[in-house]
Order: sequence, then C-alpha cells, then structure tokens
Amino acid sequence: MANLFQRPGRLPLVAPSILSADFADMARDAGQVLRPESDGGAGADVLHVDVMDGHFVPNLTLGPDMVRDLRRHLPDAFLDVHVMVNDPGQYLAAFAKAGANHYTFHIEPVIDRAAGTGMSPLSQGYDPRALADEVRKLGMTAGLCLNPPTAVERVLPLVKDFDLILVMSVNPGKGGQAFMPEVLAKVKEIKRHLRADQRLEMDGGIAPATAGACREAGCDVLVAGSAVFGKPAAERGAVVRALRG
Ligand code: DX5
Ligand code: ZN
Repeated sequence: MANLFQRPGRLPLVAPSILSADFADMARDAGQVLRPESDGGAGADVLHVDVMDGHFVPNLTLGPDMVRDLRRHLPDAFLDVHVMVNDPGQYLAAFAKAGANHYTFHIEPVIDRAAGTGMSPLSQGYDPRALADEVRKLGMTAGLCLNPPTAVERVLPLVKDFDLILVMSVNPGKGGQAFMPEVLAKVKEIKRHLRADQRLEMDGGIAPATAGACREAGCDVLVAGSAVFGKPAAERGAVVRALRG
C-alpha cells in the first residue's frame, strides 16, 4: 500500500522534528503541529523522529518506545523515523512494530566500514540495498541519508533503490544549527536522478528564510525542528505556511 511519501496529496510536505518539542509533553506538542489550523493546530503533514545512539553522533535522543506511544496517541500521524545510528538494522524491526511509517538510515557507517575507520565496535555493518528491502518488507518506505561532508557520488548509484533521499543541511547531532547552503548543489544533482514517486527531503536549519532555496533546488519534504517548536503554538501555523511557500 502506498504511503504519504509515495502518494502525497500536496508538495512540499512539512515535517516538524519532535527533537525540538517538549519531551515531557510530547503528545500535546506533536498533536498540535499536525492538527489543521482551523482546529488550533499548525497544519503540518508529517512528524520527523530523530533517533541518535550516542555513537554515530554524540547525542542520545529517543527510541522505539517513543514511536509506539506517538502511534497510540496519534493513530493517523505519519511517522518519519530518521536514525542517526551506527547499526540501523539492529533497531529496524522494533521501529516497524512500534508503528513507524518510514525509516531513513545513513550511508556513512557503510563508507566508514569500507575504509576501516570510524566505526563503533557495536556496528555489524549493512548493505544499504538489502536493508532497504528489509524496511519495505516490514511495511515502511525506505530512505537513505547523507551528511554535508559526504560526496553525492556515494549515493547516486543507490538512489533508485530508495523511496526517499535525505540530504542533511547541518552536521547531525542536535537541533538549532545554522543551515549550510553549500549542500544545495547536491540536492540539485540528486533531483535529476529521481522518479516522480521518490521524495527528496532536507533536514537541518530550515526556517522560512532558508526554505525557499530548498524548494527551488528540488526538495519536496522539509524538516524543521526549532523553527516550528521554538515558536508559541499560536504562531506555528504561520511558520508551516511560510515553509510551504
Ligand atoms: C539534526 C536532526 C534534525 C534536527 C533539525 O541532527 O536530524 O532533524 O532536529 O532541527 P533544526 O530544524 O532545529 O535544525
Ligand atoms: Zn532528522
């Protein structure tokens, strides 16, 4: 069954990152950004769920239990899970069972393993294509992510095997960092290789002031953490509209 990323009603989709929400009041904050503006919400499309393992990035955030409880409180939410972890296969089944709709993992642990550097001893390594197949077998769409220093040539041979490519516009690890415009060249290059049913997502430092350049470069899913949740609830709808353009 096609999901929102394959059959979006409108583009771009706006995906607030719950990393910048109130973790002790998550159901309220996450529900508010997804409700229509006419119902006191912000009218966003997707919840972006940033998972960090303390190895691939130093920070430690949340895991499958958060997804399970988001699913319970918000049965209709589209949950876009972005794992910044060394071993994405280790957590895949748990996120699927918890109710994730989409699962994006990074290319860098694969590159680092091939180079024999930078890997946590916890990592078992993975084949990105095989892992994408596993993701789809579990009923989710699959995304591949690259960090700002990673060359676009590393992902181009793989793009046809994914439902979504996520280009980081900050070095991952925390919210609230400055947008890196130099990654827009990679977005344009990747866009040339995508089919109409594939999405191009951008994540990091996206706000009304930077979203226009992302949309023009071809992004059709815009993640925004601090730009949305950093505002009082009553002002978030205007931010989401500005991100859509
Ligand atoms: C960065 C995360 C982002 C982050 C975005 O490591 O992947 O999703 O939450 O936050 P802002 O929009 O504040 O840069
Ligand atoms: Zn993210």
